[in-house]
Amino acid sequence: MKTRITELFGIQHPIIQGGMHYVGFAELAAAVSNAGGLGLITGLTQKTPELLANEIAKCRTLTDKPFGVNLTFLPTLSSPDYPGYIKAIIDGGVKAVETAGNNPQKWLPMLHEAGVKVIHKCTSVRHSLKAQAIGCDAVSVDGFECGGHPGEDDIPNFILLPRAADELRIPFVASGGMADGRSLVAALALGAEGMNMGTRFIATQEAPVHQNVKDAIVAASELDTRLVMRPLRNTERVLRNEAVDRLLEKEKALGTSIKFDDIIDEVAGVYPKIMLDGTMDAGAWSCGMVAGLIHDIPTVKELIDRIMVEADAIIAQRLAGFARV
Ligand SMILES: Cc1cc2nc3c(=O)[nH]c(=O)nc-3n(C[C@H](O)[C@H](O)[C@H](O)COP(=O)(O)O)c2cc1C
Repeated sequence: MKTRITELFGIQHPIIQGGMHYVGFAELAAAVSNAGGLGLITGLTQKTPELLANEIAKCRTLTDKPFGVNLTFLPTLSSPDYPGYIKAIIDGGVKAVETAGNNPQKWLPMLHEAGVKVIHKCTSVRHSLKAQAIGCDAVSVDGFECGGHPGEDDIPNFILLPRAADELRIPFVASGGMADGRSLVAALALGAEGMNMGTRFIATQEAPVHQNVKDAIVAASELDTRLVMRPLRNTERVLRNEAVDRLLEKEKALGTSIKFDDIIDEVAGVYPKIMLDGTMDAGAWSCGMVAGLIHDIPTVKELIDRIMVEADAIIAQRLAGFARV
């Protein structure tokens, strides 16, 4: 399939694996890129620019296809060495960066000068337009359904994607709630030129996370996510567990006086415990409503091939069958 997204990133299928903390290691990024999509290493999971450089080098040994790096500019407890990370990306010859969170404007000239294409993840039309205005090459439009940080507007993709299509000139992918060939065709119909998946890629053979995490996603339904940290305007969609229930109790009890310190046990430093150790109640971890559509743990290649075959069949058979003669 050829779209402006496949052309931009030099990939075969318009499918991107979104950055995911403690999931987006070289193994997963390479598997996605080898299967014809765009895999992304999650920059900040690597504690230093040197470690990111090593992970990029490792990914190169696993694939000769294009892959990228996610750089997230979110409120974190310590301020990461962003110039160092950018240098590691450029020096590592990476040609695709997914930025997320705060405005990436400051870093665009350096990245563009090095031939890096930048796709900025946005949860609103106004942020997408801003990304376009500052010179981003593409946007990943992340609807309210998404795992992770959906922003504060709560607009689901059935509205957000056509709104983005009406306003944007640069290409965009649909993100949030994407799982299969139906998602891809729907995304294309609504104006996107590809899709970005997070949660779906965790439940794959190659995702280098504990089996408990994959099993939890397969076991979950679309009813099992919760929004946390809304009172702090740092809303995150997570899978419900004991820690999340405790966190929500605290939010209810403390109301608007809640501070980050009050919930630090439930959110700080929990990712390695969940993703690497499989301690599923250790804290709040991002997961999309799309868990309700995930029933197996295929290889990344099986997943992507299946999506493309299903998408082709929907377009050529189901939709063509509805066409007026
Ligand atoms: C476990 C997990 C960790 C994530 N970590 C990040 C991150 O560090 N940076 C980022 O930009 N997005 C992160 N995301 C969001 C994904 O890149 C993607 O936008 C989102 O998962 C799309 O929604 P979906 O899960 O419904 O596919 C994360 C998502 C998940 C599920």
